[in-house]
Formats: sequence, C-alpha cells, structure tokens
Amino acid sequence: MNTTLITGASSGLGLHLAHRFAEKGHNLILVARSLDKLSMLKKQILQNHSVNIELIALDLTQDGATEELTKKIPYVATLINCAGRGNFGLTEQIPINEHIATIKLNCEIPVKLCTHYSKEMKAKKSGTIINIVSLGGYHPLPFFNVYSASKSFLLTFTEGLAYELKEYNVQVINLSPGGILTDFHLKSGLPPAIAEKYEKLMQTPEQVADELFNCLRCKKSSWVTGRLNRIYAIVQKLLPRRWVTASAGKFYKDFMPKN
Ligand SMILES: NC(=O)c1ccc[n+]([C@@H]2O[C@H](COP(=O)([O-])OP(=O)(O)OC[C@H]3O[C@@H](n4cnc5c(N)ncnc54)[C@H](OP(=O)(O)O)[C@@H]3O)[C@@H](O)[C@H]2O)c1
Repeated sequence: MNTTLITGASSGLGLHLAHRFAEKGHNLILVARSLDKLSMLKKQILQNHSVNIELIALDLTQDGATEELTKKIPYVATLINCAGRGNFGLTEQIPINEHIATIKLNCEIPVKLCTHYSKEMKAKKSGTIINIVSLGGYHPLPFFNVYSASKSFLLTFTEGLAYELKEYNVQVINLSPGGILTDFHLKSGLPPAIAEKYEKLMQTPEQVADELFNCLRCKKSSWVTGRLNRIYAIVQKLLPRRWVTASAGKFYKDFMPKN
C-alpha cells in the first residue's frame, strides 16, 4: 500500500490533505509539533478509513530533526512538504531567529527530505513529491519578505527537481496556492483585516486539496490553484518586476500598523 508522509499535518492544508490521502487508501505518516492535534486527526481519520497512521511529533527546525525523521521512516511512496511559516512586518524589525526558522522550515527541510526520499524513488522508478509553494513565491512581497523569498527558493528548487526526476518516473509537483482560509495568516502576524477584506478571493483547504488531485491525475509538475490566481501568475510575468513588487509592497504597507 502507498505510504504518504505529510509535514505540517496538524492543521490547515496539511490536515485536509491527510483526510484526502486516507480516503484514497494511503497509509499516513503525519508530522508536526502538536501531538494533541495529530492524535485528534488520527482518531477522526480512523473513524472512516482503514489505514495505518503513524504520528511523529517533531519540531522540524530543531537541529537533527530531519535525520531523526528519515532514520525512523527511511522510505515513502509520496512525500508532501506542507509545513510552512512566515512573519509579516518590516524585515529589520523581525528577530533574526524568526527569519532563520522560516528559511529552515520553508527551504532547508524540504531540500533535505526531497534529497533523502528521492533516492529510493529514483531507484524504484516510482514515487511522488509534492512541495506546497505559494503564489507569494512568484515575485517579491515587501513586508512578507523572507517568506516570499523562501517560497521563491522552493519554487525554483521544485521545478529543477521535477526535471531531474522526470525520466525516472518520479512526479515532482510545485503546488502554489494563493490565499487559503487557514490560521496561517494569524500565526504569521498578518492583520486579520486582510483575510476579512479578501475572504471571497481565498480558497478553502478542501478546494486546494481537490486541485492537487486534479494535478496528480493530469501528471502536471507545476500548478497554481484557483482560476484568478492562475491568471495573476501569468499576468505578473508580463509586467515589469519593479512595478509588480511596488504594487505588492503598497498592498501590504496599507495594512502595516501606523506609528
Ligand atoms: N494559508 C495561506 O494563505 C497559504 C497560501 C499559500 C501557501 N501556503 C502554504 O501552505 C502550507 C500550509 O499552510 P497552512 O495555510 O495550512 O498553515 P497552518 O495551518 O499554519 O499549517 C502549518 C503547519 O505547519 C506545521 N509547522 C509549523 N512549524 C513547524 C515546525 N517547526 N515543525 C514542524 N511542523 C511545523 C504546523 O504544525 P504545528 O504548529 O503543530 O507544528 C501546521 O501543521 C505552508 O507551506 C504555507 O506556506 C499557505
């Protein structure tokens, strides 16, 4: 049976992906820091599906965390790097350890897990890697700067990896959502006014999960979720980058606390 490892499975998109992959009959390895939330999720899934679920409570930004994880779970058929974080605000006002944690979780950890698990996938000529990137990685987002830069790194890394592994029948997917209705915004310190004002333009985690399965079916390697987001991703490429950066900066600046 397929075994799927999902990082960031305790809430938001990762939690919904866990439900959806269980529905498809995958055994699950669920990773996040909050064991209580993971245990609750396991209980909910087992009420409806007969799959094996292993929970791993781990802070992936701690030294040695990925080594501990890959030692416990040496091989998987599907890897989903969904755990992510960010901090809203002026780059220089955010503590450096916060920036480092973002770079670790959004860049270093996916690179380590992709490198480890792709070896076996390549040898078996089978496997799937899904990296949850973001539309925010398609151009700079001033005031959400390190987050955007980290997702830009993950985007480039994922696209390159997809090319390298294609001939070995390993599907690597960059799934890039725009806004999703999760607690991510609150945790990142994004003003609730943004989510309130733009709620209608945001997707539910269920919608994003549905699009992932379409993408898997169509064997795509890069997918921006949501029709408007897809149009935006194309249009922003045609415009001068300086202009796109300035308009994103103006958008976020309007939500910055006024001193
Ligand atoms: N929400 C959006 O608008 C949006 C848009 C585009 C892309 N994304 C991306 O989608 C992914 C999922 O985000 P979400 O919206 O579902 O946010 P979320 O609800 O905040 O989920 C984040 C997940 O990451 C886990 N996590 C955070 N820090 C961790 C750490 N140090 N070690 C292990 N796990 C950690 C959290 O679990 P614990 O706290 O239990 O550790 C949680 O399960 C992220 O990569 C995000 O960048 C989100």
